[in-house]
Amino acid sequence: MYIPKPLEDKITIPHLKKLKQQGEKFASLTAYDYSFARLVEECGVEVVLVGDSLGMVIQGHDTTIPVTLDDIRYHGKAVAAGLENAMLMLDMPFGSVNSPQQALDNASELIKQTEAQVVKLEGWESQLQTVETLAHFGIATCAHLGLQPQMVHKMGGYSVQGKAKSAAERMLATAVDLQGAGADILLLECVPASLATKITAELEIPVIGIGAGPDVDGQILVLQDVLNVTVGKKPKFSKNFMQGQPSIQSAISRYVQEVKRGKFPDKTHIFS
Ligand code: KIV
Repeated sequence: MYIPKPLEDKITIPHLKKLKQQGEKFASLTAYDYSFARLVEECGVEVVLVGDSLGMVIQGHDTTIPVTLDDIRYHGKAVAAGLENAMLMLDMPFGSVNSPQQALDNASELIKQTEAQVVKLEGWESQLQTVETLAHFGIATCAHLGLQPQMVHKMGGYSVQGKAKSAAERMLATAVDLQGAGADILLLECVPASLATKITAELEIPVIGIGAGPDVDGQILVLQDVLNVTVGKKPKFSKNFMQGQPSIQSAISRYVQEVKRGKFPDKTHIFS
């Protein structure tokens, strides 16, 4: 049985940067409601994301595309009510960041209504100006590279990104540019572990990975995957932390401890 280790301090961007500098890993998870937000924080999860994955795991859609700003606002408020010290990050849903001005208006409203600390946005070079604008107006951002679920129709499915040399070079260059534009965190989804290692070493900002190998600064998973209640095929990068555990609390604490000790992800969860 794993014993929860609650957070002692408020988690901020400087706090995550310090962890990166000290080589200490941090744990992130998605949550979509008050009860689970409380529970994941009690177990020591530093960053809680209200992800647009809620479109799939809460609403039962096939993709994240139908998720609206109202959905993120609703779940964001519920999660915020459950958090005291963990960092609250909200996903900007499909169609809500199509221009810097639209992103600024939408992110400002969401932050006011939920008191989230960070907004996360998918997008490549196209988001440089948006990240810069948000930074200019004091909004902390997490840029999201690699697999971009909001582009599923353009990509024709979900697949590992950055395998070809040119794609890897483009991702590294874009990551550096996003940091230069003012991004505070980078999230890498489904990229070869060696590329994630390189990007993490190159950047000063913390890098969170999902399917990005063990060398990123923090890991994130979808809560349903951790608790083994995922419907359908389980992603290769996830792990059933409920296995052998007597309670949900013990399973989430195990996830946090395995991330911090560098035990998760292991070679069965990574892409090359
Ligand atoms: O929406 C989400 O939950 C995410 C994670 C997969 C990182 O973006």
